[in-house]
Amino acid sequence: MIIVFISGTGSNLNAICNAGLSSSIACVISNTPHAKGLDIAKKYHIPTYVVDNKLYTNKADFERELIAIVDNYTPKYLILAGFMRILSGDFVNKYHHQIINIHPSLLPSFTGMHAQKQAFASRVKIIGITIHFVTDKLDCGPIILQAVTNIDRQDTEDDVTIKLLKIEYIVYPFIIRKLLNNMVDIRNDNYVIVKHEKMDKDILNNQNFYVAY
Ligand code: GRF
Repeated sequence: MIIVFISGTGSNLNAICNAGLSSSIACVISNTPHAKGLDIAKKYHIPTYVVDNKLYTNKADFERELIAIVDNYTPKYLILAGFMRILSGDFVNKYHHQIINIHPSLLPSFTGMHAQKQAFASRVKIIGITIHFVTDKLDCGPIILQAVTNIDRQDTEDDVTIKLLKIEYIVYPFIIRKLLNNMVDIRNDNYVIVKHEKMDKDILNNQNFYVAY
């Protein structure tokens, strides 16, 4: 089972559910009370929790509440999908190699907020997304998968954002399924090994991006 953490739209949550993984989601946790993603969870009959960070005076109390919910389910992985809070080292270390994030850039380029905007402003020709394990260093954990595409000369910043999201909707469920099926291992040197399967081609071939995992 997984728990999905959201803050807003939940379009990745929607893609994960659409890919047939809703029954693997123990619950969805949002740190914002009016996140649209909560409605998506309800549509799929997934239990939802709001832990509003604004109601806590410090991060430790906020995270204590998150931990109480998580430990009630003992999920295999915590999936960050548009979750806009930075988790503390204590939290991350408690769930060592269990927290996964998707970031809209080719890490280690463009860490932090507005990665698509940063890429667009840098006039790079190649853009992409990274799925990685979360560690106590922001956007720096062991990389599970990266997918790349190009910026065309006529692309606007919005086009770039949409291109990246479309990739995310395919590769995030793809990797979550592999995680749930014990097909992802981290070597001691932090290189992540993902088991390849014949059926991968059906999902990834003929897409408008190149993927490495
Ligand atoms: C994407 O930019 C993703 O890379 C980042 O959050 C955005 C998606 O949010 N982690 P959502 O899934 O639509 O809420």
